[in-house]
Amino acid sequence: MPAVVLVGAQWGDEGKGKATDLLGGDVDYVVRYQGGNNAGHTVVIGDQKYALHLLPTGVLSPDVVPVIGNGVVIDPGVLLSEIDGLAARGIDSDRLLISANAHLIMPHHKAIDKVSERFLGKAKIGTTGRGIGPAYGDKIYRVGIRVQDLLDPGILGQKIEAALAEKNQILTKIYNRRGLEAAKVLDEYLGYAERLRPHITDTSLVLSKALDEGKVVLLEGGQGTLLDIDHGTYPFVTSSSPTSGGACAGSGIPPNRLTRVIGILKAYTTRVGSGPFPTELLDEQGEWLRQTGGEYGVTTGRNRRCGWFDAVIARYATRINGVTDFFLTKLDVLSGLERIPVCVAYDVDGTRHEEIPMTQTEFHHATPIYEELPGWQEDISSAKTFDDLPPNAQSYVKALEKMSGAPISAIGVGPGRTQTLQIRSLL
Ligand code: GDP
Ligand code: IMO
Ligand code: MG
Repeated sequence: MPAVVLVGAQWGDEGKGKATDLLGGDVDYVVRYQGGNNAGHTVVIGDQKYALHLLPTGVLSPDVVPVIGNGVVIDPGVLLSEIDGLAARGIDSDRLLISANAHLIMPHHKAIDKVSERFLGKAKIGTTGRGIGPAYGDKIYRVGIRVQDLLDPGILGQKIEAALAEKNQILTKIYNRRGLEAAKVLDEYLGYAERLRPHITDTSLVLSKALDEGKVVLLEGGQGTLLDIDHGTYPFVTSSSPTSGGACAGSGIPPNRLTRVIGILKAYTTRVGSGPFPTELLDEQGEWLRQTGGEYGVTTGRNRRCGWFDAVIARYATRINGVTDFFLTKLDVLSGLERIPVCVAYDVDGTRHEEIPMTQTEFHHATPIYEELPGWQEDISSAKTFDDLPPNAQSYVKALEKMSGAPISAIGVGPGRTQTLQIRSLL
């Protein structure tokens, strides 16, 4: 039975939380497979708004088992406060499963993330400061501390000592910061271990058995295609693989069990943090998009950079992820425009590029070649079907679908659970 992947097609914040929530009634497991609490996924149910960072969005659907896969980096303090925050609102996370192989974000990771960004000065990445890069760095360097280490206090103590023997040198001698006390960190993490113990399991085995039994598994990506460590705008990326390939490595589900790849695509483009963004609008039109679309970060509260839809990027996302269906979000935000520019290709130093240029230098020189599509004036936020949309909104969707190279199977016309036009089934 199917495992379905849901990925961000742009630079994150496309509306993955809303899309995952929408499918919550029809799936048995929702798995986060990469990233950590750099993510901020918003779900609006009636008059309630939830911002999820580490917990899979499935936690909001009572019949779903939420799973934090091996590819995630977990800040246990943040996870527990997220669980407590939801409990205070009547939502229980008892069903949560956490992979024993997931890596832990440690206090030194957060400290190093912040000071190394400061050190980079103007070249900074604009990270969320949550310790994501340093935690993944240690994982790849094979000196990480994993969730399973919480279950063995002796080993946990040794690993923290060994880590701090090196990291304290870096913090004090390179960055001129205070070092961390191993005993204090151990105490803190043993406290987390008490509470997390019942959730820790071999999640890849659980998911494999679930698929054998015919259950439906939804893999919920964090971040987005252009933030992928391999396929994104390196070095202005995150340190994991949000793309569909990463879903297998980060969950232990093999590629031949994936049946659909749903790309979440905003009807325009946003980005948080540094890095190239060809269609970025630095004028009042960008400010209009920010205000109309409410484009302020869920995790850090930063202003999101805003720009027109970029079809080069959408096509790229289709290719890299093998997108079978797009969920186009925030179409309602574009209501009221006379004409809507859409980037169809780039000009790079006088040459037309239909694809993302090969080198970073070229991409930094890319300027958009726009085609203008006619806009619509009507408020579309209460539309129920595709046919309810004004003709120009329908044409905009059709044009984006053609340029992006995969069918648009659902359209968001507002943040609410019910503000979705379903064209085809996504499962
Ligand atoms: P994620 O990180 O991909 O889950 O996206 P975020 O939650 O960071 O940002 C998406 C924002 O857009 C949230 O505030 C959502 O509530 C909101 N949103 C999602 N879909 C729609 C839509 O179709 N229309 C409007 N107006 N807002 C939407
Ligand atoms: P969701 O899941 C948008 C960006 C940061 C920064 C870069 C690296 O809500 O779409 P990191 O802290 O990951 O090392 O920062 O990646 N970034 C996101 N941008 N949405 C996100 O998550 C992001 N997670 C990280 O702003 O530019
Ligand atoms: Mg977000």
